[in-house]
Amino acid sequence: MAATDWRRYLADFHRDNPGAVQEVLERARSGDHNPYDWLARAVPPSAHRVLDLACGGGAMVRRLASPGRTVVGLDLSAEELDVARRRAPGSYVRADGVRLPFADGSLDAVTSVLGLLVVQPLDEAVREITRVLRPGGALAVIAPSIWLMSPKELADVTRLTRVLRTRPQFPNPVERTGVKALLALLRLHRVEDKREVYFYTVDDREDAERLVRALYLPRSPAERREIAVEHLVHRVAKQGQVRIAVGMRRVVAMK
Ligand SMILES: C[S@@+](CC[C@H](N)C(=O)[O-])C[C@H]1O[C@@H](n2cnc3c(N)ncnc32)[C@H](O)[C@@H]1O
Repeated sequence: MAATDWRRYLADFHRDNPGAVQEVLERARSGDHNPYDWLARAVPPSAHRVLDLACGGGAMVRRLASPGRTVVGLDLSAEELDVARRRAPGSYVRADGVRLPFADGSLDAVTSVLGLLVVQPLDEAVREITRVLRPGGALAVIAPSIWLMSPKELADVTRLTRVLRTRPQFPNPVERTGVKALLALLRLHRVEDKREVYFYTVDDREDAERLVRALYLPRSPAERREIAVEHLVHRVAKQGQVRIAVGMRRVVAMK
């Protein structure tokens, strides 16, 4: 099978589905919070100049806003940035994550929700983040994680990926190898590495469509997505509600 042309896939996906990822993650709950709230808590209040890398529809920019702080959202997709400007007033820049338009050492913190899974090449993105952070500055990122999920939660996710005939894919490595490689590249001090499981609840067809729309499935034809939606709708009809576990990992490192 031919390798995925990720640059083209991501450009097309985010042109056609801007805001789709955040619509799912905003609704993914662990107790009283979603992954954006969780990441925002890791950013020190003293961070005045903050970049959210691969900001998508601006969910994180909105969370980070606070008096005296300048938050910039950066993304390559014009359509995602349009959504962000509508939903989360702030400062935005269209740029590639491997060429950050900021001076050396000019930022107190860089955040990213899933961004390090998509910006390629990863080592260049990491070099850029390290360059723009000031000494003592913080990088706080969220990446997916399957650890901590119970066998039942994993089985529920697997039922869905079986119908799709593939797991969601990302251009850069996920989990252990990804984060390990990242930290080695970063030469930053890891100060935290935590995991939490969130739940996205499917009550009706709209919830099912929203979930399936947000997945990167370069090897799954459109009809498989439709079958996956029907599968979820059928499960809801049978059991009342479907809760899909979304495992997340939060890594915080200091320069
Ligand atoms: C999985 S989405 C996450 C978006 C956002 N952080 C959120 O949580 O909704 C990945 C984002 O990375 C952006 N992206 C992909 N390649 C990029 C690159 N080379 N530089 C900057 N952004 C990029 C996409 O346009 C998309 O908005």
